Amino acid sequence: MKVLVTGGAGYIGSHTCIELLNNDHEVVVIDNLINSSEESLRRVEEITRKKISFYKTDLLNKSEVQKVFSIEKPQAVIHFAGLKAVGESVREPLHYYRNNIDATLTLCEVMNEQNIKQLIFSSSATVYGEPKTVPITEDFPLHATNPYGRTKLMLEEILSDLFVSDSDWNITLLRYFNPVGAHESGKIGEDPKGTPNNLMPYIAQVAVGKLSELSVFGNDWPTKDGTGVRDYLHVVDLAQGHVAALEKMTQRGIHIFNLGTGHGVSVLELIDAFEKSSGKDIPYKIVSRRDGDIPECYSNAEKAERELGWKAIKTLDQMCADAWNWQSKNPDGYEK
Ligand code: NAD
Ligand code: UFG
Repeated sequence: MKVLVTGGAGYIGSHTCIELLNNDHEVVVIDNLINSSEESLRRVEEITRKKISFYKTDLLNKSEVQKVFSIEKPQAVIHFAGLKAVGESVREPLHYYRNNIDATLTLCEVMNEQNIKQLIFSSSATVYGEPKTVPITEDFPLHATNPYGRTKLMLEEILSDLFVSDSDWNITLLRYFNPVGAHESGKIGEDPKGTPNNLMPYIAQVAVGKLSELSVFGNDWPTKDGTGVRDYLHVVDLAQGHVAALEKMTQRGIHIFNLGTGHGVSVLELIDAFEKSSGKDIPYKIVSRRDGDIPECYSNAEKAERELGWKAIKTLDQMCADAWNWQSKNPDGYEK
């Protein structure tokens, strides 16, 4: 199938391009490179020995997006493009609403015009807010606590309305938990701009010597060891989840899946696993809780296993080993 991947040069998008190409799909990428580098796509081509049609295009530019659709005539779209930093979204809400909402509206309008109605959308566990219990199933109440999260929640609602208005659409909302790790080649991985906000890339930069120590945001949470608990899943497993959704969700409808491992891992457990995999010490200090954090968030991922035939299989040790392999081979990300 010919698949248009928006945001395909980014972290999850580039890993998904590999899995699509390895499964004999054709890949077209639209990305404005606001948070990524074209080098990631060059490396995807090197790994797979297959070609990608790349358009450096902003999804806000409708006529440019129309042009890409007219030239390429994709059969389905996987929509990763968006801004994703929670703190930045609090400081620049208009930028986040404009970019994430408008880009998706433009994309759907053009898909409608071209009669292409299969869409897979990157949602997030952030739509569950602070869950009352864990593990989280897809029918839990939804609640966003910051502008980034609200863009995801609003987009889920917009896409559901679109399906109600026209039942020819086939829309899959994938709610990711915490993607980490990198492709086993060490050629592509997560390349955050500036100091990382997320735990795994922060640890990896401490290990490689770019940052001196990790701050652990609180050890007084009501969790197994007092530190925050999350559902870390390997980005290659996550990428394969997209291929499963593309191939299995062939019927019209709104389909919603959690993509996670179903297991909660604490900050201290992740530090320990990373130290073992990398052979590096990760110095850390306990500091106060981060604003907006929640104690525990992990998925019940049984629906994806049942209906997509997909299960996250890579272990925490593999996530850490692959994150370290990427970071140690590319200390400055794609810049070098
Ligand atoms: P990323 O920043 O690496 O990739 C997003 C890509 O979208 C980037 O390459 C960026 O240049 C591109 N982009 C942004 N706005 C664009 C626009 N207007 N036009 C064209 N391209 C544009 O992020 P990622 O981690 O790969 O995340 C992919 C998607 O998954 C995002 O929608 C994100 O919100 C969602 N998500 C990510 C996580 C995570 O922890 N990484 C968790 C849950 C959900
Ligand atoms: N943490 C630290 N120190 C750090 C960074 C994080 O102790 O320097 C802790 C956090 O307090 C939390 C855990 O590590 O307990 C994970 O934090 P991340 O920032 O890596 O991940 P979050 O679960 O907070 O958020 C991420 C994305 C959100 C997304 C969510 C669910 O940033 O956008 O996963 O997918 F919504």
